[in-house]
Amino acid sequence: MSRITTTLLQDKKAKKEKITMLTSYDYSTAVMVDQAGIDCILVGDSLGNVILGYDSTLPVTMDDMIHHTRAVSRGAKNSLVVGDMPFLSYHVSIPEAIRNAGRFIQEGGAQAVKLEGGEERVDTIKAILDAQIPVMGHIGLTPQSVHQFGGFKVQGKDLETAEQLLRDARALDEAGVFSIVLECVPAALARRVTAEVSVPTIGIGAGPDCDGQVLVINDMLGMYQGFVPKFVKKFANLQPVIAEALQSYKEEVEKGTFPADEHCFAIKEEVLEKLY
Ligand code: KIV
Repeated sequence: MSRITTTLLQDKKAKKEKITMLTSYDYSTAVMVDQAGIDCILVGDSLGNVILGYDSTLPVTMDDMIHHTRAVSRGAKNSLVVGDMPFLSYHVSIPEAIRNAGRFIQEGGAQAVKLEGGEERVDTIKAILDAQIPVMGHIGLTPQSVHQFGGFKVQGKDLETAEQLLRDARALDEAGVFSIVLECVPAALARRVTAEVSVPTIGIGAGPDCDGQVLVINDMLGMYQGFVPKFVKKFANLQPVIAEALQSYKEEVEKGTFPADEHCFAIKEEVLEKLY
């Protein structure tokens, strides 16, 4: 199988085939996600919450993101790897945004970047695209704007914010993004955006009519014990499974039943005898 490309995702929209995306932050997970045939792996700045233990994505740095993107890229042979541009990596100046986007490709081994924002980010997005770096947009509940929104709230519920979401989606589409993440918006509004834009929409808390879906892998596998939003379905509940395994390990080590013979390496008796 060859690498999923941004054009292949656009073909999927045209053929009404759903697009799959999950986050990953490390090599072993990326190998499993890739082997499952998931189209895109997002190295999300959600790693701030689920990997680094912050209470928002705001403290995440470019160096954090590059470190994890490199690990994921080593594991993802077929999935399209998208690096998530962290807070302040594309806000200060356009040259800095291009440089940082380039780091995801050159150092991280990603094939594309994602950044949050609508109309206000069009110039930055165009400049990154001019540097031949594919960009995925992200509108609706954009977690890097949590303080501006006054919390993690569904976006686009009233006429004014719904119209703004539509304007943002059209602006990103015209700017040339290859896809748009719609986070935490009413399902009917996401359906309207999806019908209007030429590029695939990827929903998270945006209903079933987006062209694809994304979830944070630690949430959908039931491994994250912090706040998990209503839109997450737990496709597995690994936390109790892991807790039980850890308890068994502790008990067996304490009792001396682990390691057993099959976990040990042998040495010839005569070698042992010669030791002094
Ligand atoms: O950081 C992330 O994981 C994301 C997804 C929730 C879309 O941006």
